[in-house]
Amino acid sequence: MSLFSKDIKNLNDLFVHQLQDIFYAEKEIVKNLPTMIDKATSPALKLGFSNHLRETERHVERLKQIFEMHDAKVKAVDCPAIDGILEEANDVAGEADGAEVRDAALAAAAQAVEHYEIARYGTLIAWAKMLGRDDCAALLQQTLEEEKAADRKLSELSMSQLNQRAA
Ligand SMILES: [Fe+2]
Repeated sequence: MSLFSKDIKNLNDLFVHQLQDIFYAEKEIVKNLPTMIDKATSPALKLGFSNHLRETERHVERLKQIFEMHDAKVKAVDCPAIDGILEEANDVAGEADGAEVRDAALAAAAQAVEHYEIARYGTLIAWAKMLGRDDCAALLQQTLEEEKAADRKLSELSMSQLNQRAA
């Protein structure tokens, strides 16, 4: 089954479709982060996830703003990629034996989410610029910077604490 409907004919259609895809992803992340906060044991990891939940709520709002700026309907399309990443995150956290191993697994899963988002926002920014929407690109860039910062914090936390404890 193709994910792309036949009415994606040009870069603008692709841009809007990718916005709908990341809009779905961000909303799913908002739904899943509370469980990850619950499952995390490390206070630093819990705090990191909590901060990123608030940030992610802002990402959702920012995307609504971009849809409106671009005169596109605020709409989400299913994104099996993020569904798979989040499903695996839940599975691995459920199977990990012991709080320390679970924390390391949760941080790794969260980084997979961040990398997915970083890839998507990078493409969206390039397409927005190509379409002459520097205003949209600037907003998307703000989110991209926050995703990169979240990813860096997870790397630092994993290397300085979580991985050693899990080992
Ligand atoms: Fe995000």
